[in-house]
Amino acid sequence: ATDAIEVDAAGLALAPGFIDAHTHDDRIVLDKPDMLPKISQGVTSVVVGNCGISLAPVTFESDPPAPMNLLGGREAYQFPRFAAYANALRQSAPAVNVAALIGHSALRLAAVRDVGRKANSAELAEMCALADAAMNEGATGFSTGLFYPTNAAADEEEVSAIAARFARQGGIYATHMRDEFDRVLDSIDETVRTANAANIPVVVSHHKCAGPANWGRTFETLPRLEAAAAQHRVNLDVYPYAAGSTNLRMDLVTSDYPIRISWSKPHPEMTGRELSSIAAEWGCDLHEAARRLDPAGAIYFQMDEADVRRVMSSRLAMIGSDGLPHDIHPHPRLWGTFPRVIGHYARDQKLFPVETAIHKMTGLTARVFNLADRGLLKPGAFADLVLFDPATIIDKATYDVPQALSLGIARVYVNGRLAFTPEQGVIARAGRLIGGRNNVHGE
Ligand code: ZN
Ligand code: CU
Repeated sequence: ATDAIEVDAAGLALAPGFIDAHTHDDRIVLDKPDMLPKISQGVTSVVVGNCGISLAPVTFESDPPAPMNLLGGREAYQFPRFAAYANALRQSAPAVNVAALIGHSALRLAAVRDVGRKANSAELAEMCALADAAMNEGATGFSTGLFYPTNAAADEEEVSAIAARFARQGGIYATHMRDEFDRVLDSIDETVRTANAANIPVVVSHHKCAGPANWGRTFETLPRLEAAAAQHRVNLDVYPYAAGSTNLRMDLVTSDYPIRISWSKPHPEMTGRELSSIAAEWGCDLHEAARRLDPAGAIYFQMDEADVRRVMSSRLAMIGSDGLPHDIHPHPRLWGTFPRVIGHYARDQKLFPVETAIHKMTGLTARVFNLADRGLLKPGAFADLVLFDPATIIDKATYDVPQALSLGIARVYVNGRLAFTPEQGVIARAGRLIGGRNNVHGE
């Protein structure tokens, strides 16, 4: 067929634009709307607001506590309502589409006087009202980070009461579970009970079995998730690496696995180095070194490669980078996730066909998050597209050099506009707020 614009795509593959199912891009879409780390991978949509952490609807008088500080300091939090965030997004015009979850930690810090305890009934009512408003104003769903101190005091009852409000308006629920270590099965059971009680589709975030004592236990967790999925809508997201990354936390500091520092406020000169070598240089133990570095971020080599492969191969699994865009020395997942799944795991390692890899980052994700007319190549769907070279596509970001453009992405289109080529960089910023009521009221 011919038309006004002709593209020579000889030797290239055309796919729906990739959807990053799990991000913390809430602020970067406003501050650096070029979104180079993502669009350069072929990503055309991101789901923000994961792990209970979202920029709206909360403000702070002093710097926010961990893990909210992963998105920035007090000045980053300017959105007492989700509508204000949606507005800022319209102004910033990011290069990729954004579907937004509302974080339970954000709701708790906005409404609960003491986040160290369960919400009382007045506080719960306030969180439910904020949830209703956010869905009305274009949010896609709800997230928790029950592993984190700002969220951990919430029990199943509190979580399901709020999740039910999101469910009423067609929302989705994603959870960074209470425990991904020894009690991972209990956490899966809790997740399924909570989602069932709230009658809401659920996504287990960055599924893993963390810590050497739990390596191999995806043989237990995946069948448990599959069994739940037979009764209820259950999915999971996963990044293609055996290391995780979050704040530097005392309870994660151990000599069981290597730990690398991704940022440190008091000791920025230690960024990118291994905690054990810092401790050796300072002549102290790991915990003392961690205390001196805090507040800080870290990369934890806490997973087994075979588990990562099994999780990725699950038919329930979507690809989500979980990249942390404000880290000084970020985990390479921020720049490399999508080309790595296609080039390394599907093509080179033959973990699954390339078509399966694409489905896990497009059609499946659009269906799970209810992103209408995205994630598919079909007449009438939004033209979020990526042209890539299946023979050369590969990630280049590593733990040593984490900020590197991937190879093999030829052209990326967002909402019908050519948005990125490797020669020209980011050309257009055509992203918009998607998901939730935007499906009905969008253009
Ligand atoms: Zn998380
Ligand atoms: Cu996350």
